[in-house]
Amino acid sequence: MRAPAPAGPRHIDEGRASKHDAALPDAAAAGSMAVAIKSAVEFVPASHSLQALRLAVQQCRGCELYKRATQAVLGEVEGDPQRDSPVNMMLIGEQPGDKEDIAGRPFVGPAGKLLDRCLEEAGIDRNKVYVTNAVKHFKWEPRGKIRLHKRPSIGEVQACRPWLEAELDAVHPKLIVCMGAVAAQGLLGSSFRVSVSHGTPQRQEGYPPIIATAHPASILRARTPEDRHSQTATFIADLRRAAEMVGAG
Ligand code: URA
Ligand code: SF4
Repeated sequence: MRAPAPAGPRHIDEGRASKHDAALPDAAAAGSMAVAIKSAVEFVPASHSLQALRLAVQQCRGCELYKRATQAVLGEVEGDPQRDSPVNMMLIGEQPGDKEDIAGRPFVGPAGKLLDRCLEEAGIDRNKVYVTNAVKHFKWEPRGKIRLHKRPSIGEVQACRPWLEAELDAVHPKLIVCMGAVAAQGLLGSSFRVSVSHGTPQRQEGYPPIIATAHPASILRARTPEDRHSQTATFIADLRRAAEMVGAG
């Protein structure tokens, strides 16, 4: 059994934190008193082989998000989705996007392309790292003809946690890389600030070392080319640090 995530103090937005740091919206705090406790736990099979997990996750009803998504997207080692042997590194994003929801595979859209380039720059072989998300179903709202990504709530991240724990059990990474605040705060508590502590290994009982970094999708949203450049460089530097810790990808 892994230790539960610390119930860190809820973040009060001071207005200076960057958007990477915004606290997750919390359904319970948003005013509805009787929020049902949701969890994927009863849907996770006893066997934590990736094959069993991949099959079972499609039946998950642990929160509401399955209703509007095409399918659940479990993590994978690219090119070797049934691989069950230990990996050096597990990369955790936020949730599948529009493209991932359709393909049924993580990080295959624009953010995935940037991730691929940065992994390569950092000397990490994507075919050797396990890439997954904190939440397995795509959360979105209609915006004209497009399905606009919507940030998962803390409750949804927690509900989906048993799948992440089962994936950790299946691939036993030596290091976890959390990309963005949703993944980082999910494991390190809601007071964790990616902008402050990115690239520095964090310890959490019951887990391998954790390094947090930016989310590639947030780099794609940078306002100026200069910002995008510097954020990309920082992202690559964090990934290099991760590679050094495990002896490359
Ligand atoms: N963003 C994520 O966090 N995960 C994906 O799989 C794709 C985009
Ligand atoms: Fe289950 Fe996670 Fe999908 Fe919610 S998001 S239904 S907990 S797999």
